[in-house]
Amino acid sequence: MSSSEHDVGAVTDFQVGRPHRVEIDGRALVILNVGDRIYAVRDICPHQGARLSDGQCKSRLRVTAVGTQPEIQADDLVLQCAWHGWMFDLDTGRALTENDSARVRTYSARVQDSRVLVDTT
Ligand code: FES
Repeated sequence: MSSSEHDVGAVTDFQVGRPHRVEIDGRALVILNVGDRIYAVRDICPHQGARLSDGQCKSRLRVTAVGTQPEIQADDLVLQCAWHGWMFDLDTGRALTENDSARVRTYSARVQDSRVLVDTT
């Protein structure tokens, strides 16, 4: 574990697919365990300040051709804010709806020895 990494709990503390709020040095983050990967983002929606930990993890829908049914992209997950539905790319933090220049801060997160480590640099 590097000096900028913080242990935020056992991986089993983070139910798969459900956003969890944690605090590191007074900074609120959302931890999202999607099974094969852990994400960490700031717990403040850039729209009007809602807690993103109150939101939902969803799969993005993608239309591949005109007239076809949208396909669920299970490997392309987003975090949706509970207040007005803005969605955020979990890798980049970029908003995918409304104002696409809005962004939520993302952090590097990983699992080591069954513990979730978040790098706040
Ligand atoms: S506060 Fe998050 S979408 Fe409005």
